[in-house]
Amino acid sequence: MKNLAIIGAGSWGTALAIVLAPRFPSIRLWVYETDLAARMTASRVNDVYLPGFQLADHVQVTSVLPVALEGADIVLSVMPSHLVRRLYQQMLPCLHESMLFVSATKGLENGTLARVSEVIREVLSARMEPQIAVISGPTFAREVASFEPTALVVASSDAAVASRIQAAFSGPTFRLYSSQDTIGVEIGGSIKNVVAIGAGVLHGMGLGNNPMAALITRGLAEMNRLAVAMGGRGQTLAGLAGLGDLVLTCNGDLSRNRTVGVELAHGRKLDDIVGSMKMVAEGIKTTHAAVDLAKRFAVEMPISEQMFQMLNFGVAPRDAIQRLMERSLKGE
Ligand SMILES: NC(=O)c1ccc[n+]([C@@H]2O[C@H](COP(=O)([O-])OP(=O)(O)OC[C@H]3O[C@@H](n4cnc5c(N)ncnc54)[C@H](O)[C@@H]3O)[C@@H](O)[C@H]2O)c1
Repeated sequence: MKNLAIIGAGSWGTALAIVLAPRFPSIRLWVYETDLAARMTASRVNDVYLPGFQLADHVQVTSVLPVALEGADIVLSVMPSHLVRRLYQQMLPCLHESMLFVSATKGLENGTLARVSEVIREVLSARMEPQIAVISGPTFAREVASFEPTALVVASSDAAVASRIQAAFSGPTFRLYSSQDTIGVEIGGSIKNVVAIGAGVLHGMGLGNNPMAALITRGLAEMNRLAVAMGGRGQTLAGLAGLGDLVLTCNGDLSRNRTVGVELAHGRKLDDIVGSMKMVAEGIKTTHAAVDLAKRFAVEMPISEQMFQMLNFGVAPRDAIQRLMERSLKGE
């Protein structure tokens, strides 16, 4: 497993190219924007999505998909969730059954409500029986690219696939734990972005630590309920891809989803906030999928529901909080 293709050079794909460079003699990084690819080839810096970080000399940058995929042992995809199906369809003619497919995308497909690994499997099943894993956890791109110690999870229903990726990706600052619970890992990585918008709202309203702790804890309960109803393990949500990522996204200044919440609390309109962001905040789209999944699996997800009301129907943050506080009383 010497050849790695990374598909998508946003902040996360670029950070992964940096941290994994010492582990692979050959890395090809596919960049969507041709002008950015040309600049990155010359300067070795992604000046749009991850300025200030240098790519290793042996990372080959390309905007041509067949070039990126040729001879790859591992295809690591890092595109935003709404582009997964389209890009895998485009890649399909260049893919082989011998390749391992790893998804680092967080989010769900709106409409189908499929997890990203399910979308990938569906597309690839037309030609092969694919070996798929997902990686997730508390991983801000800038900190990973700075080689700060980071722990995350690799999950695959096939334990051997998870172990191979764990061995191939782990390094001195990048420690992977293995799991077979792709459902728990993907639901954790997706729903935490919805809760993070709520965390931003609390922060933007100037509220203190009590509401934040309550949001994180009840957000975790909600993620857990959904994952278990879908067939995942509750224990996974107590791990890096659940609680770990939730704590990071709710408290960290680098979280875009949290930033969306802060801006909403300051009274800005969603269209205006999204229009001023170059990067994706997956939580906005995931909020739709979360409320639809809650209905499909008949679980209560009150925080996601209030986020949905705020994002789509302009419910004021204060009213959303009041609705949460005045729900019928429950056992924990
Ligand atoms: N940034 C992080 O710290 C981080 C950490 C873990 C996981 N993730 C997840 O990784 C995924 C990618 O996020 P990111 O932060 O790298 O993205 P980003 O917001 O930094 O960049 C957006 C990406 O989308 C690409 N893009 C835009 N339009 C496109 C099109 N039409 N076709 C193909 N590509 C197109 C851009 O080239 C760019 O690579 C998301 O699911 C995110 O939740 C991000």
